[in-house]
Amino acid sequence: MHTAEAFRLDGARALVTGASRGIGRAVALALADAGADLALSARTEPALKDTAAEVAQRDRAVHLVAGDFAEPAAAGRVVDEAADALGGIDIVVHNAGVLPARPDGTPLPVPLPGSHQDDWDHVVTVNLNATAVLCRHAHRHLTASPRASLVLMSSVAGVIGAPMMEAYAATKAGQVSLARSLAAGWARDGVRVNALCPGWTRTDMTAFAHRTAPVSDWLMAHVPLGRWAEPEEAAWAALYLASPAAGYLTGQALVMDGGMSVPDGGLAGIPKPSSPFAGV
Ligand SMILES: NC(=O)c1ccc[n+]([C@@H]2O[C@H](COP(=O)([O-])OP(=O)(O)OC[C@H]3O[C@@H](n4cnc5c(N)ncnc54)[C@H](OP(=O)(O)O)[C@@H]3O)[C@@H](O)[C@H]2O)c1
Repeated sequence: MHTAEAFRLDGARALVTGASRGIGRAVALALADAGADLALSARTEPALKDTAAEVAQRDRAVHLVAGDFAEPAAAGRVVDEAADALGGIDIVVHNAGVLPARPDGTPLPVPLPGSHQDDWDHVVTVNLNATAVLCRHAHRHLTASPRASLVLMSSVAGVIGAPMMEAYAATKAGQVSLARSLAAGWARDGVRVNALCPGWTRTDMTAFAHRTAPVSDWLMAHVPLGRWAEPEEAAWAALYLASPAAGYLTGQALVMDGGMSVPDGGLAGIPKPSSPFAGV
């Protein structure tokens, strides 16, 4: 296979969750650029339609399958409806996810002792329970595909932890563990399973941080590359994991974090301002 072909997805049928904005929207467009037909899921239909219009401009088929993953049955319904619409599924990029948030949607970084169990339960429901439901339903469709790849959008927080976002980090670690377990269990069914673990990426989810200079500066002081990732950079990593180029890669957590998980920047000694969250 020619190298360029190894990154193509011509004729593939892909479901992308959380495709209305941010990383998921960028994943949808990257997969469409690579030749995949798409089913797109999220709660917000107008924003999903905007992503779908951009996919359609790339001359790819696109279907919308709205669903709220806070509802226990939604992830299974989304997978089955996507398979019906596409005539099967070869690729799933399960990207929908949440941080603990205030009622107005503002993320709520708060240490576990002062947090509410309801907030923990909501994050676990959307990020981890829905992932299990989605994987359970996706198995049947993926095993029928000759080119099956499942990508779970985890986070570097799932690998290195995230004080004040403990529920989030625990669910993201759960996704890494699930990807590794499923990869071994499903390998002989021809299904590759990997987790992608981005670091700080410039989306709505992180607007509370990248739009506030002292917070952004402090966070970026902990990233050796010294900048935010753009959603497209996570999307290109997801495309790689989904593509034939990663055909021998399964059961892995691909960390894409600008070097943040190198402990304290290694010997580089990058100076750190004091935390704007100190005392919260
Ligand atoms: N941004 C980062 O720095 C970063 C870093 C590492 C990992 N990640 C992970 O990457 C993924 C995408 O993050 P993002 O930054 O792009 O976030 P975002 O901009 O907030 O987008 C989140 C996506 O998930 C969907 N979603 C949220 N709650 C949902 C629910 N209850 N049911 C169904 N869909 C839901 C949203 O659509 P609707 O609101 O329309 O439903 C949206 O499409 C998440 O899993 C996140 O944990 C992000």
